[in-house]
Amino acid sequence: MATPALAAAVRLDRGCFADLDAVMRIMEAAFGTAYGEAWTRSQCAGILPMAGVELTIARTEEEGEPAGFSLVRMVADESELLLLAVTPEQRRQGIGSRLLDGFVDQARDQGVRRVHLEVRDGNPATILYRNSGFVQAGRRRNYYHGEDGRRFDALTLVRDL
Ligand SMILES: CC(C)(COP(=O)(O)OP(=O)(O)OC[C@H]1O[C@@H](n2cnc3c(N)ncnc32)[C@H](O)[C@@H]1OP(=O)(O)O)[C@@H](O)C(=O)NCCC(=O)NCCS
Repeated sequence: MATPALAAAVRLDRGCFADLDAVMRIMEAAFGTAYGEAWTRSQCAGILPMAGVELTIARTEEEGEPAGFSLVRMVADESELLLLAVTPEQRRQGIGSRLLDGFVDQARDQGVRRVHLEVRDGNPATILYRNSGFVQAGRRRNYYHGEDGRRFDALTLVRDL
């Protein structure tokens, strides 16, 4: 996949608890509430200290403010992308790809054999994941609970490294 020019000017930093406010700002702007994909602040705060969980923050050189983040969890020889989000104003500039590549590269460096994630069926992010080599391994019916009571399936995508 061609990498847009701006991606080169994106910095990825290891995040920590102090980044929680920024993470929640991006989360709310990125996901909205329609599909029930966003995590709450207490879900994020609860998982951050857990073993194998890592937060990565993406910043553009011009802004300095966080533009996106990924949250991943490594268990045994598998690594899961729990969340990936970029603020709507800064999309389609390669930031999501940088975060995704960072996740995959780090997993490979740590000897992980397979990475996986869940994404709502119909989420355009699926295009990004498929272009990166992820394939569908399953479907979880009615996994996401939308704000109006509607349910949405999740696709389980995997990529062997
Ligand atoms: C998914 C998301 C992280 C992508 O971030 P991004 O910085 O815009 O991604 P990139 O610029 O790296 O996109 C790379 C490629 O992925 C594909 N892609 C990304 N978003 C797309 C969209 N909305 N529609 C179609 N293709 C898309 C395109 O092929 C794109 O390349 P192009 O811009 O040259 O066409 C961002 O749209 C987002 O935060 N969405 C809301 C949160 C979410 O649903 N996260 C995923 C589930 S956890």
